[in-house]
Amino acid sequence: MALPILRTTEELRAQLRDWRCAGESVGLVPTMGALHEGHLSLVRLCRAATTRTCVTLFVNPKQFAPSEDLARYPRDEAADAALLEAEGADALYAPDVGDVYGPGFATRVVVDALGDDLEGAFRPGFFEGIATVVTKLLMKALPDAAFFGEKDYQQLVVIRRLVADLDIPVAIEAAPTVREADGLAAASRNAYLSPAERKRAPRLFRAITYVARTVGAGGDADRACADARQTLLDAGFTNVDYVAVRDAETLGPPAYPARPARVLAAARLGTTRLIDNVAVAPEPARDA
Ligand code: PAF
Repeated sequence: MALPILRTTEELRAQLRDWRCAGESVGLVPTMGALHEGHLSLVRLCRAATTRTCVTLFVNPKQFAPSEDLARYPRDEAADAALLEAEGADALYAPDVGDVYGPGFATRVVVDALGDDLEGAFRPGFFEGIATVVTKLLMKALPDAAFFGEKDYQQLVVIRRLVADLDIPVAIEAAPTVREADGLAAASRNAYLSPAERKRAPRLFRAITYVARTVGAGGDADRACADARQTLLDAGFTNVDYVAVRDAETLGPPAYPARPARVLAAARLGTTRLIDNVAVAPEPARDA
């Protein structure tokens, strides 16, 4: 059967009501489209965890600053729908802006502190836009579970916080970052990279992996981050917004090894901004 495409909140709720009445469990996979392997891994995780998978496709204007790429953000709904159908998703909710932000819309969801740090410091309003739209999507669908990638690690932490703070009855599930063979994290904006930039891009993963290994082996985090930053600049990155080691749950100062830690980074290659993150882990045992 062709993938049903739902355009309005009424259609979404009617579909979910039918599924609920039939005793099904529902998983939601929120996306902005331009689907890649990372998104498809979320669909697979969702299908394994719930009996119905609903994907949302909405390029949320509230999470783009006026200077950002809202107008040129890659959009191909037909291609996305075909991928989702092949993957076995059960419905696609693809509303227009008016169905999400109706006339007189005036509410903002702000996650204090967490949303102003790291990405938030370089993209003011970004997490407010995400928190607002994710809250709305969760309240529209009220799924059993919603699925997000670790690639956007700070987004995941912000969403976990708002769901806990607002008592939204949904389980937030995370999927590991999907990477190309050379280590580059799958991302819709990778499509902007020129061939020369694409070749350099995996250096970001290598740099944060170096920091994770160094900290995991007991080395100095600040020194490792400074080295990683310089390596990226030497490799031709246009600028490095941050390379940071943080507590994996709160994104506050790290207390590794007592608590898990994460290395997060953002850097620009030409006009394309890349972000990535990895867990700090002890050096894996080597074969003798
Ligand atoms: O990760 C994304 O694609 C978006 O930030 C999300 C969660 C769909 C909200 O617009």
